[in-house]
Amino acid sequence: MPTADRKLGVAVLGVGWCASQHIAAFLCNRHTAVTWLCAREADRARANLAKYGVTLPDARITTTYDDVLSAPDVDIVSIATPNHLHADQAVAAAEAGKHLLLEKPTGLDVGELVRIRDAVRRAGVRTIVSFELRYNPFLGFARWLRSAGWLGDIRFARTQYLSRVTDWYSGWSWVRTRESGRSHLLAAGCHAVDALRWCSGLEPTSVSAFHTHVTDGYEWPTSIVANMTLEGSALGHVTSSTGFMLPYTFVVELMGERATLRQDLLQWLDAPVDLGRLAAANPFPDVRLAAAADSAGRPAIRIVCTMPDSADVTEHPFQAEIDELVACVLEDRETSISVFEAQHTMEVCLAADRSAELGGEPISLPLI
Ligand SMILES: NC(=O)c1ccc[n+]([C@@H]2O[C@H](COP(=O)([O-])OP(=O)(O)OC[C@H]3O[C@@H](n4cnc5c(N)ncnc54)[C@H](OP(=O)(O)O)[C@@H]3O)[C@@H](O)[C@H]2O)c1
Repeated sequence: MPTADRKLGVAVLGVGWCASQHIAAFLCNRHTAVTWLCAREADRARANLAKYGVTLPDARITTTYDDVLSAPDVDIVSIATPNHLHADQAVAAAEAGKHLLLEKPTGLDVGELVRIRDAVRRAGVRTIVSFELRYNPFLGFARWLRSAGWLGDIRFARTQYLSRVTDWYSGWSWVRTRESGRSHLLAAGCHAVDALRWCSGLEPTSVSAFHTHVTDGYEWPTSIVANMTLEGSALGHVTSSTGFMLPYTFVVELMGERATLRQDLLQWLDAPVDLGRLAAANPFPDVRLAAAADSAGRPAIRIVCTMPDSADVTEHPFQAEIDELVACVLEDRETSISVFEAQHTMEVCLAADRSAELGGEPISLPLI
């Protein structure tokens, strides 16, 4: 536990692109100090720190995970390694009594999800999973709009993750493989599945999916469409791809019985949504609302804020995620994206992949 002169010690495992942002965020949190880095090669870890502009003179570098697990100056382990390593590393960290920041995907199959869940439950450590888009103001606003009743009951929810990931990506050598990347949804599109669950507030009850192989170089199909039944007789849809020829695009649409949010445009048919009342109720200081019109000139409300429109991790809201984990460790309470919560998103991804492998056969949820 930190005292006036002792911060929470953090070890970062896997010193690549994503880890650079974990490190930067932990350095900005006044309760944490990055004490250890664990990498395959110390020189490459140093080179990666330099490449990503991170200065960390006081951290020890080890190539042996056990050094981290047995270190008394490690309270939190941050796991940013390739996907197939997450489960074993997370279980070992929990068994060593370390709190966890775990990159998505948490586990690559049901067995891995269960092992992570059980180890964390037994150890009673705090965990947060990097579905950090939940801290993007647009996603937060969309969720609030729905939960505060402005849309009415949700009839249909749709999210899209459209990107083009090829050899520009630092993790290309491992992500493209079945062994480590495993599938499009596990490697990337799980963000869209998570946004659908989180923004709609509705759990998928079954999923039917189709996938296809668009982008060369991958061992797995790079595009998937997944139709879902959601609790409460609602429907859901996710389109997700690493093969689209357009700038990175992340879309959230929530269609309710009163009004519909289509990305940054709010529209209605019958009773108009009152801009003044909505603006007065809006709890997000970084979200502005403006009178607008759609392309046909019909009235709408435009949501103006930082949108989830970049694949670059330097623009992702890791700071808020890491600040929440640290606060929860200090105050001994659960985070909002624990491994238990993230497990539901991972189960939907696994069910969609299973359905696509079976040519669209519906798979019931939950899997576990
Ligand atoms: N939440 C998000 O928005 C987000 C965004 C990007 C990535 N991620 C996740 O973060 C994790 C890391 O991705 P990244 O983009 O940072 O990838 P990356 O740049 O390739 O970094 C991965 C790091 O893990 C190390 N590593 C350890 N064991 C390895 C092994 N057996 N094979 C290959 N590398 C190994 C690599 O070391 P070397 O330096 O020795 O190669 C590298 O430093 C992934 O799980 C990914 O899904 C999440």
